[in-house]
Amino acid sequence: MNTSLTDTLTDSAASPVAGKTVLITGGTSGIGAATARLLLVRGHRVAVTGRDPGRLKAFLDEVGYADRVLGLVADASDWDSTNTAVTSTVERFGSLDAAIANAGGASADHFRTGGAGVIDGGDPELWAPMVLANVLGPALLAKATLPHLEQSRGRLVLIGSVAGIKNSPGNLYSATKWAVVGFAENLRLHATTRGIGVTVVNPGMIDTAFWHGQAPPIAMSPDSVAEAIGFALDQPAGVDLNTVTIRPIGQPV
Ligand SMILES: NC(=O)c1ccc[n+]([C@@H]2O[C@H](COP(=O)([O-])OP(=O)(O)OC[C@H]3O[C@@H](n4cnc5c(N)ncnc54)[C@H](OP(=O)(O)O)[C@@H]3O)[C@@H](O)[C@H]2O)c1
Repeated sequence: MNTSLTDTLTDSAASPVAGKTVLITGGTSGIGAATARLLLVRGHRVAVTGRDPGRLKAFLDEVGYADRVLGLVADASDWDSTNTAVTSTVERFGSLDAAIANAGGASADHFRTGGAGVIDGGDPELWAPMVLANVLGPALLAKATLPHLEQSRGRLVLIGSVAGIKNSPGNLYSATKWAVVGFAENLRLHATTRGIGVTVVNPGMIDTAFWHGQAPPIAMSPDSVAEAIGFALDQPAGVDLNTVTIRPIGQPV
């Protein structure tokens, strides 16, 4: 069940400003938060989800634009939660122009074992939430949003990873992102017949909480990924931008 937190900030009706309505899963931190901030600055209406109500409220308090932002507690790996978040966004803003399947990450043992060691040295109890958020999450978001995106001739953006286009030994997180890249193309083949664009954005190493407190050897700001997502959303009618890979200069893989 979703709880709208914006009612505590504003009870104003849908904003009359021009712009798109964009739903971002996992929008309270890192890439999702940077993208929400950028889109709000550019005049769009933004709904963000996250599982942690405290983190969601802190983000909403910090970002401002209370008349154009909606916060929803929702788990991206749960169908009812995802579907309700989409419905709530459309009820609040009147339509949906784009959805960004961003929620997810790597399990803590991925970093503890260096990724490659997760099969031998990892904790299987930690794997299911990662697989469900990273793999099932984009499919649930697609199912919930396609009817609305068909009406708006909108766009779905899936956040993959460089880990989803490069193999590394024993790396389960990487396999979830290979699934995202594969699903993005399968989705494109389906969605393009309904007038909907599909973009997969594959970031390299980005400086976010994703790293569970470890410092990536080289990284760029999530703001750079947000700019790439914004570029995908700004494609003219009739143009489908399908794949964006964005790395910090110097990333060796
Ligand atoms: N950082 C990198 O180097 C990097 C590189 C390539 C790809 N990526 C991908 O980029 C995406 C965003 O990661 P990030 O780096 O921005 O990490 P982050 O700073 O940890 O942000 C993750 C966001 O997703 C939310 N989230 C996690 N699981 C969720 C779930 N099941 N349902 C709803 N929300 C959920 C988190 O909030 P709650 O915990 O409160 O739910 C948070 O808002 C992920 O898909 C990640 O795999 C990251």
